[in-house]
Amino acid sequence: MATILRNWSYRYQWFYDSISGLAALSVGGEPARCGGSPRCSDWRTRKGEGRLRQLALQGLTISKDTKVLDLCCGSGQVTQFLVKLSQNVTGLDASPLSLKRAQQNVPQAKYVEAFAEDMPFADHEFDVVHTSVALHEMEQQQLRQILQEVNRVLKPGGVFTLVDFHNPTNPLFVPGIWVFLLLFETHTAWQLLKTDLPALLTEIGFEVGEPKLYAGGSLQVIQAKK
Ligand SMILES: C[S@@+](CC[C@H](N)C(=O)[O-])C[C@H]1O[C@@H](n2cnc3c(N)ncnc32)[C@H](O)[C@@H]1O
Repeated sequence: MATILRNWSYRYQWFYDSISGLAALSVGGEPARCGGSPRCSDWRTRKGEGRLRQLALQGLTISKDTKVLDLCCGSGQVTQFLVKLSQNVTGLDASPLSLKRAQQNVPQAKYVEAFAEDMPFADHEFDVVHTSVALHEMEQQQLRQILQEVNRVLKPGGVFTLVDFHNPTNPLFVPGIWVFLLLFETHTAWQLLKTDLPALLTEIGFEVGEPKLYAGGSLQVIQAKK
């Protein structure tokens, strides 16, 4: 189940960014961006913010030559931070509209329109694959295929880093995430709450680090090595 708000969040980038901004308060802030808004023409980041968008980048070693894939990059919400670290960033998304916005917002990256479950890349192409709040959009079988694809395109020793929803460990956060999922998400997000992602990644062949939980456990960051 979802509501019209979900459609709006995909149609209007300013709306998506405002909702992300609200959600990000739980982890300490979000960049003030206005890439898709008719009222703004630039993509600004306020000092001290952007924490949500950089949660999955913490502890990673990314230099200017590191080959990075931002999987399901949307309008470049995290790509904007990745291009500050590496000169070799590719964003992949299935939505031509999102990619058009990403190209405008973060022109320093290359972009590819494709499905994450069937990526047009050779084996062992990337040092790092990142994905932010996208896996909860996938059906179970699709999720498995995507994780297998990530494993295929990563170099041996490469790192897959992700941030997505998690079942809250702090009961105070339960109402917030339930309302959010009811308004904006579909059954796949509820399925992800029940999915043991570390176990699935391990089954696929990754070496999985201890997940880090944020916002009362309603967000998880996992870093997994191939
Ligand atoms: C919730 S948005 C997340 C965007 C961005 N990563 C962020 O952090 O805000 C999910 C993105 O996944 C993309 N997407 C959904 N299913 C996909 C698939 N099977 N293959 C590639 N992209 C997909 C959507 O087009 C959308 O841009």
